[in-house]
Formats: sequence, structure tokens, C-alpha cells
Amino acid sequence: MKVLLATSKPFASQAVNGIQNVIESAGYSFEKLENYSEKSQLLDALVDVDAMIVRSDIIDAEIINNAPKLKIIVRAGAGYDNVNIPAATERDICVMNTPGQNSNAVAELVYGMMIYIQRNQFDGSVGRELKNRRLGLYAFGNVAKKVARIARGFNMPVYAFSPTLTHDDLRKEGEYGVITAYSNRELFENTDIVSLHMPLLEETRNIVNYNLLAYMPQDGLLINTARKELIVEEDLIRIMEERPSFQYATDVIPDRHEEFISKFPRRYFSTPKKTGAQTTEANRNAGIASAHQIVAFLKNGDDRYKVNS
Ligand code: 3PG
Repeated sequence: MKVLLATSKPFASQAVNGIQNVIESAGYSFEKLENYSEKSQLLDALVDVDAMIVRSDIIDAEIINNAPKLKIIVRAGAGYDNVNIPAATERDICVMNTPGQNSNAVAELVYGMMIYIQRNQFDGSVGRELKNRRLGLYAFGNVAKKVARIARGFNMPVYAFSPTLTHDDLRKEGEYGVITAYSNRELFENTDIVSLHMPLLEETRNIVNYNLLAYMPQDGLLINTARKELIVEEDLIRIMEERPSFQYATDVIPDRHEEFISKFPRRYFSTPKKTGAQTTEANRNAGIASAHQIVAFLKNGDDRYKVNS
């Protein structure tokens, strides 16, 4: 059996060594394709592969159909919108993610970005503090829960709204100290800083639009460490044009990056490359978990983290 690690954005070497160790200890062979830039490189590497580990790499139908022996794809991370799920399901290929493994890294970055933009990108001008600013978490999965915990240290009241959790569910999450919002409108209306934490699905695409953003205060701040497609970019630009103190910080480069930069140089920040999960710890956690999941699946049929049916 052959396992391929295919990462156009490579993991830390510690993580790669750990993955290799798990795969080879199970008696499988290990290959890696790191830092590749052409889809053809991935197509070539997949011809005789039984399992593969990827990150945000685009795994489309052509890639899936070019891998005749492929049985399992593990997305080392949370969001699997980069994998063509119907194409994998059609070929009876199991797709998994590694929930929670990189969430601490993303949660810490949320605060890094909040502070960076609220202190005007450290340009020495007068900025804002986080203390007492109301934080809104849109969705309440692994990352949001960690963000909520850290908020206590900053003395920020936290509100959360999740379309998939009921009020009672959220109340049970009392240990996180969050106040339940009953709708996304209520979340945006009652908070100063909104941080997005939902996956990209058909239901969440373009969910952050003008009407919703308009409920935020004039000096609101939107943080996006999730996916660019959640936001209607032209609506966000309109809000930022109308509100001279509104800020946006993102770890996913928008399509209209150049327009954001030229219109709002001091109120907009994007990391040059998605960096939320790019820590040694997160790489190691997600990468090694992926390797274990592959071994458990190939040896025992354990499909506990399967995301396709
Ligand atoms: C995730 O969905 O796990 C994060 O967006 C991290 O993505 P990455 O592996 O491409 O850094």
C-alpha cells in the first residue's frame, strides 16, 4: 500500500517525519509531493497511490478519477471544501478531515489579527483595546470554542450564534461563558467584533452580506480566518466606504484584495498566504492524526472521521 502526502503548502519537517513514521511503522510505503505548483505533478504522483493526505490542495474530479487505486483521502485540517465530495463518493473513496487538530493555531491567530488591526498595524497611531469590546462568534465549532476561552483573558463579553446549535445546546456550552444570539442578525447587532467560524457550504456561501454587516456598529471589525466565499466582497467594500472606522482583517485573501488595499490601506489587512494552521504544533497534530486515520482505515476499516456518505 502506498500513501502520498501532497501539500502545495508544506508541513513543518517535524510533522512530515511524524507522518512518515506512522505510515512506515504500519508497513506501508510513503511518498511526498511538497511545494508543487502544477496540477500535472499531482496527477502523475497519484497513479499508484492507495491513500493520500492533503491540506487545502484542490482535489477535483479529474484528480480523483486519475487515481485508480485510491481508497481514502484525508484532509489534514477542518474544512474539506477543496475536495470534490460527490466525485469521491461516486468512486467509493472515503474522505475524512481531522477535526480540532489545528484549531488552537487558528484561534490564536484570531487574536493576533484583532490586535494588529486594532492597533493600526503597529504604525504608532492611537488604536483600540480589546477589553470590554463585545466579540461575536459566527458558528461555534472547535476554533470558535477556543476563541471563546481566550476571550476571558482579554475581558471580552462573547456572543455566539450557530445555525446548527439550538439555544439549549449553546447554553450547555456554558463553560465557554458565551451569550447565545438567537439569529445572525442578533449576533451582528450586539457585538463590536465579529469573527467567522463556519465551514464553506452551499448554505454559508455569501452569508455575510450588506444587510447583515449593516447591523454592526460604525466602528465594527470583521475577522475572517475561515473562507473568503462566506463574504459578499462588494457588500463589505460598500460598508467600509460608508463607515470610515469599519475594519476588516482576513487570513484568506479576497478576490478584491487590490481594491481593499487601495481603498482602505489602514483599515484592511490580509495575510499574504493562509497562515491560521501554519504552526509546527498544528502541522504535527493534523498531519500525524491523518496518518493514524489512514492506517486505522486501511487496517480495520475504521471510518470514524468520514465526511462523505
Ligand atoms: C482548515 O480548514 O483546516 C484550515 O483552513 C487550514 O487550512 P490549511 O491546511 O490549508 O492551512
